[in-house]
Amino acid sequence: MPRTPILIDCDPGQDDAVMLMLAMNAPELEILGITAVGGNVPLAWTEANARRICELMGRRDLPVFAGCDRPLVRPLVTAAHVHGEDGLMGLTLPAPTMVLQRQHAVDFIVETLRARDDVVLCPVGPLTNIAMALTKAPDIARRVRRIVLMGGAIHGGNVTPVAEYNIYADPDAAAVVFASGAPIVMIGLDCTHQALIGPDQIAALKRAGTTAAKATVALFDFPERWRPHLYGGRVGFPVHDACVVGWLLDPQAFAGRDCRVDVETASELTLGQTVVDWHGKHGGAPNAQVIRDVDAPRFLDELLRRLSRP
Ligand code: RIB
Ligand code: CA
Repeated sequence: MPRTPILIDCDPGQDDAVMLMLAMNAPELEILGITAVGGNVPLAWTEANARRICELMGRRDLPVFAGCDRPLVRPLVTAAHVHGEDGLMGLTLPAPTMVLQRQHAVDFIVETLRARDDVVLCPVGPLTNIAMALTKAPDIARRVRRIVLMGGAIHGGNVTPVAEYNIYADPDAAAVVFASGAPIVMIGLDCTHQALIGPDQIAALKRAGTTAAKATVALFDFPERWRPHLYGGRVGFPVHDACVVGWLLDPQAFAGRDCRVDVETASELTLGQTVVDWHGKHGGAPNAQVIRDVDAPRFLDELLRRLSRP
């Protein structure tokens, strides 16, 4: 079975960590490298956390690169209040001992996408590294197989009433990415707010008792965060970033449509909003496949099955 080569750009981050563990437990995927960006917590933490997860999963073979430590234009706004000051609230891991690659993440992204044309780029943090790579090497927009990103929303936000964190943190970078012409799959909050890790999933993961299952319990077993009014009455907390790998493994479990997506980069009121032309009112050519729905039981069953693998 041909493996899909992927490059993960992340800001671990609790859900980033689950996404990484899921990808490492997916033999269908070949992880070419992991690049870290300043986001949920500062870069010094996100790159170290990426290495911590590699070591936890016995994957010291995976190259980890540090990228941009701040957005293109604006100061870094972290989400430490959600993920903890160290980015992995609930999961205590020793300082990493595997090496951090010397090459800058942006250069690794450019080099990788110029060396082959079958790579799927999987950004699940602010899009700073991706925008820098596209600016440095515009040709990679035509070479990348697909960009499958977690970010944005058709309706609503989680940082402001209309903006989702990854886009809000670096709206200028997001605008560069959506204007690049690269084939994009956008997995936003409309979808990820359906995919919650809640009491049933926690209980199943505790029964499984594998390294990845135990780590996921440590990162998500916070009942005080299970606020149904935020997630359509569903109980749990969204495992946003894991939906990117979920889509790669089982795209039929997800649904959406090709839309024009624009990013607000100026208005203080709506900064970071992804304006998704779901009904084609704008008339502009679609620039992304926007995923709105997921068969949550199907996705979560698969997620748990793979995290429960020894
Ligand atoms: O809005 C959810 C996104 O912001 C996820 O990628 C999470 O890790 C945070 O970065
Ligand atoms: Ca993230």
